[in-house]
Amino acid sequence: MTQQPSAQLANRRRNRLLFVGLTCLDIVYVCRHFPVEDSDQRALDSQWRRGGNASNNCTVFRQLLHWWSSNNRSAAAAAAADTTDYEIEFMGTIGGDHASRFLVDDLLANGILIDNIVRHPDRQCPSSTVIINQSNGSRTIVHFNRNLPDLDGQSMANHITESLDRYLHIHFEGLRNVPNIRQMIAQIRDRDVNHEITVSVELEKVYKPLTELLDNAEDFGKYIDIYFVEKEFAGEILDYTDADQTAVGIASRLHPGALVVCPWGESGAVAYDNRIGQLYRSPVYPPKSGSVVDTLGAGDTFLSGTLFGLLVVGLSVEDAIKMGCQVAGAKCGQWYHKEMSSQGIPKEQGI
Ligand code: ADP
Ligand code: FRU
Repeated sequence: MTQQPSAQLANRRRNRLLFVGLTCLDIVYVCRHFPVEDSDQRALDSQWRRGGNASNNCTVFRQLLHWWSSNNRSAAAAAAADTTDYEIEFMGTIGGDHASRFLVDDLLANGILIDNIVRHPDRQCPSSTVIINQSNGSRTIVHFNRNLPDLDGQSMANHITESLDRYLHIHFEGLRNVPNIRQMIAQIRDRDVNHEITVSVELEKVYKPLTELLDNAEDFGKYIDIYFVEKEFAGEILDYTDADQTAVGIASRLHPGALVVCPWGESGAVAYDNRIGQLYRSPVYPPKSGSVVDTLGAGDTFLSGTLFGLLVVGLSVEDAIKMGCQVAGAKCGQWYHKEMSSQGIPKEQGI
């Protein structure tokens, strides 16, 4: 694989990656088969997991840093990306109940910084009930949020704008607080005058106002460098039917520096780089064990794998989406995100 020096790595002062979005409780049931309505079955397993896209992104990124630094690789590659330097931060809102404390403990136990989370002690933790079908690894999610607000636009200004120069990359999960996300991104760009921080957004939730993050008006679109666009959003909100059409179609609405990345389930992933007008494809990489057991968080794993390839390893766009697919494929072959680093992530690709 081609190793490209990452421009940002030249400046080690910027060593922090921030993922802004949701953390929630996932109550997971592993079932032999997907339940029939109004039936009664005994689950094979059940567990509490820390979930939420941005929160999962942090978990995977931390594991990739660990995997990268603990694997044997060439001295040149190790020097190009000394992973001990990096810090991973989660920013979002958090409630005050028992489940919220479980999330905080788990974030800290995984070495994820939470310096800037916004606490709402009188609010309840959002939760998802997730059914994993053991026969094919599919995950079915029912999500509920009683009263925990998303981040407001002021949160970024209050907490990090004074110390922005430590950030290498800031990622935003597209939630319902679209005007606030726009405000936070604008605040970053106001202060980061030399555009030293790269910004990405993820459009996944089927929520029409998220299209405002694709808006080029008043230069807003130029503020975002990388767009991750998932198939549910592309199909239901934008009426695109496949990954190529999505990547090319969205890129045509965006500024000339934009990169559009589209994970597409069992079809792998596609990216369109507006800087050179080039479309790239990655195949899907089935887990080495051969069987898909748990696809919960596959998209979050892909996103972190791709960003890791681009920002830490310095891969080309094509190799970075391949890395994303390899890491996501490995994840689908194992439970949860635990010990991803020992599960055969992309060694065979020579990175
Ligand atoms: P989400 O979990 O958000 O629905 P996708 O289904 O698009 O995300 O999957 C994200 C990535 O995970 C895909 O691009 C692919 O690389 C990988 N992936 C998904 N399903 C499988 C599978 N059955 N086997 C191997 N890899 C998979
Ligand atoms: C997986 C996930 C789960 C969470 C749900 C929220 O991508 O983040 O962990 O329950 O999506 O939509």
